[in-house]
Amino acid sequence: MSGGQAVGCGMLGRMITMRRYAGPEDLRAMQSLTERIWSLDNYCHVGDQAWERTHIAGREALHPTALWEDGGEVVAWGWAFLPDGLHFLVDPARPELADEVLRWFDTVAESEARSITLLDRETHLRAALERQGYRLEDSPVYSDYMRLPLDDLPEPVAPQGFRLRHVEPGDLARRVAVHQAAWQPSKVTEESYRTAMGTWPYRSTLDWVAEAEDDTFAASCLIWLDERNRVGELEPVGTDPRFRRRGLARAVCLAALGALRDAGADQAVVYPVRGLAKAAAAAPLYEDLGFVPYGRTVTYVR
Ligand SMILES: CC(C)(COP(=O)(O)OP(=O)(O)OC[C@H]1O[C@@H](n2cnc3c(N)ncnc32)[C@H](O)[C@@H]1OP(=O)(O)O)[C@@H](O)C(=O)NCCC(=O)NCCS
Repeated sequence: MSGGQAVGCGMLGRMITMRRYAGPEDLRAMQSLTERIWSLDNYCHVGDQAWERTHIAGREALHPTALWEDGGEVVAWGWAFLPDGLHFLVDPARPELADEVLRWFDTVAESEARSITLLDRETHLRAALERQGYRLEDSPVYSDYMRLPLDDLPEPVAPQGFRLRHVEPGDLARRVAVHQAAWQPSKVTEESYRTAMGTWPYRSTLDWVAEAEDDTFAASCLIWLDERNRVGELEPVGTDPRFRRRGLARAVCLAALGALRDAGADQAVVYPVRGLAKAAAAAPLYEDLGFVPYGRTVTYVR
């Protein structure tokens, strides 16, 4: 592997190499692991990486990232959120690499303190955190992990005066405006949203809006489809505060979920935050849509 650093022997005697993230093509390489090992026991979906890595422009310097590979196959990655945070994913068949990723994180973190959030079901990562001296923190803020099978979806009903449709060419400015209104103060810009739209696995046919008669976009729901695992992730969903509690988020999510089912998925996942006032409406919305919790995040500190 060019530019790679050998870190040990993999199974079958092959050498595992580690290399630093070198650009957007490596995002797809990271997603290849996410896709390959996706299950309800993992905290991330290919859509998380696509959205997290693109929706705020100019943050690459805050995200030192490294990939571990075995014979060209990505088997682990670490993605630092400076100064003290880390996302990491490790093939459960290679649990020892979790320690390797945490040791790499120690070389890039910019503070003595560390804070790492992951899904409670990721037992191989939790064991590594404990081996590396982290302890579980009793955090009042966490994410519920919720899922919805798509076999019995109700039909969306657009509130009077609105129509539901997916994004079309020429919608970028209004698409960004509805996101910014829902997520004030938002760092999403036309430039960053254009980048998200160009990132696998974005599809405009899974990016839905509720449009008012005066052409304003009032609510939106973006879904990312992991085709291999037939699972879509809602990220993000929002309604402009001027239009809330009229059933627009319910309608636009149901329309997008219907498109997701028609594209071949059999379930959807979403991760509403609990314990934050500004996100208080998120979990009730997904409960209203029929999503059921299957896990939650936990935070480890050192
Ligand atoms: C969450 C959000 C998208 C809801 O949008 P909305 O268009 O107001 O939601 P709807 O009117 O379709 O509500 C559908 C149902 O969700 C639940 N709900 C929505 N907002 C709620 C709130 N503030 N409190 C309690 N329940 C709520 C209710 O069950 C509601 O049905 P009801 O009005 O018949 O009781 C909106 O508040 C928002 O944009 N928040 C900021 C961004 C965010 O948190 N997004 C979600 C996480 S990705």
